[in-house]
Amino acid sequence: MVATVPVAVAALLAAASPASAGTIGSAGAGDPYFPLAGNGGYHVVHYDLKLHYDPETEHLDGTAVLTARATQRLTRFDLDLDGLKVTGLTVDHVKAGYRRDGQELVVTPRTALPGGREFRVTVTYSGRPGPVTDPDGSLDGWIPTSDGAFVAGEPQGAMTWFPANGHPEDKSSYDFAITVPEGTTAVANGVYLGSRTAGGRTTFRWSQPEPMAAYLATATVGKFQVQQYTTRDGLKVFNAVDPREASAAARVLKKLPSVLEWESKLFGPYPFRAAGAIVDHAPKVGYALETQGRPLYDSAPSVSTLVHESAHQWFGDSVSLTRWKDIWLNEGFATYAEWLYAEQHGGPSAQKTFDDLYARRAGDSLWAFPPGDPGSGENIFAAPVYNRGAMTLHELRRAVGDPVFFRILRAWAACHRHGHGTTGQFTALAKRISGRNLDGLFHTWLYGRGKPDRP
Ligand code: TRP
Ligand code: ZN
Repeated sequence: MVATVPVAVAALLAAASPASAGTIGSAGAGDPYFPLAGNGGYHVVHYDLKLHYDPETEHLDGTAVLTARATQRLTRFDLDLDGLKVTGLTVDHVKAGYRRDGQELVVTPRTALPGGREFRVTVTYSGRPGPVTDPDGSLDGWIPTSDGAFVAGEPQGAMTWFPANGHPEDKSSYDFAITVPEGTTAVANGVYLGSRTAGGRTTFRWSQPEPMAAYLATATVGKFQVQQYTTRDGLKVFNAVDPREASAAARVLKKLPSVLEWESKLFGPYPFRAAGAIVDHAPKVGYALETQGRPLYDSAPSVSTLVHESAHQWFGDSVSLTRWKDIWLNEGFATYAEWLYAEQHGGPSAQKTFDDLYARRAGDSLWAFPPGDPGSGENIFAAPVYNRGAMTLHELRRAVGDPVFFRILRAWAACHRHGHGTTGQFTALAKRISGRNLDGLFHTWLYGRGKPDRP
């Protein structure tokens, strides 16, 4: 029996028979924080998601068509899917074998896929989706609300509503067609293509042409007030607001075009062709998410939260993580955007914000771990990632001066636009552009244990 073979021996046996070992896509993308997130052996080029959701019964019917490319010969590969019942699965229109193993949907195509081949996987599924609980205790994924669902997938919730290659390392374009009862609105990412009502149901169609990580996909459903307009820069804005949040949200959402314009001046051109906001009423969620092109708020946001989620469009959405350990590249940057906005709009200077944080005593949770090494998935949304991450950028700014600092931010957004970045690539870029040896600064602020010495 396999179970009686020691692990090391099993590895040797596997290595000795490459015919089987080399053709199976791995169950994860290799990220130690979320070992089963994503999958190996293929890249998803495009997701076509057709969903029917009934808020009354909380029942979801889905058909997902994934266009993928094999990065190796594949006799078997995995998708991520948590819960729900799979009712059919084909690869290139031929019925394929499949089984469920926790969050892994293990697919065995009738014939092996050659490396480099583009192939199409069609999965039909249904059930009553619900969120996953993250290592830090928060809910993520398909979160039913009183009138629909709040759908936010960071870091691992995409698999609660569609079969996914659920790691930001893999980015894809998306199309959505979401059918809900007439009078209810379904809002996804990207460009709104229109809706059609028949037989008491309305189908909303959306297209997200620029590459997107699965965790940034949404299909949020509810009774929403909708507002659409085009900005001076030609950006298509679609806002959906829960009427219970409408009066509090209006004043803040009015600022969206000016916030995006201000950020475009600092960070370079806005990376997507669509924009907007989804303001839901979902008190049990407790956070907002930078869903691509159209951030999702659990209640009317403050201006600084609007600035934060908007900044993520450059840092996190367009420039994606390669591994969750580098999460400060998302949260530190979005937090620093809040500080910069305050500084330039009548609030405290970034230096004052830095000083107030630095004044916290050595035992404060701010210093619990360094932002460049959170240690586990449990810590990726904790204070050191956000605040000390932003403090790192502030120290960089002080060291190189404003012109060079903003040149670095713009180069980062431009060089990795619609792609990926790592902490090592960022520090190398900062050193190259400034012509300075910044090793000590980054070592102290990104990796030093405890409260750094006074800068
Ligand atoms: N990325 C979000 C933000 O800061 C926060 C977030 C997403 C989050 N998912 C979460 C925070 C889960 C806590 C738990 O904009
Ligand atoms: Zn954030």
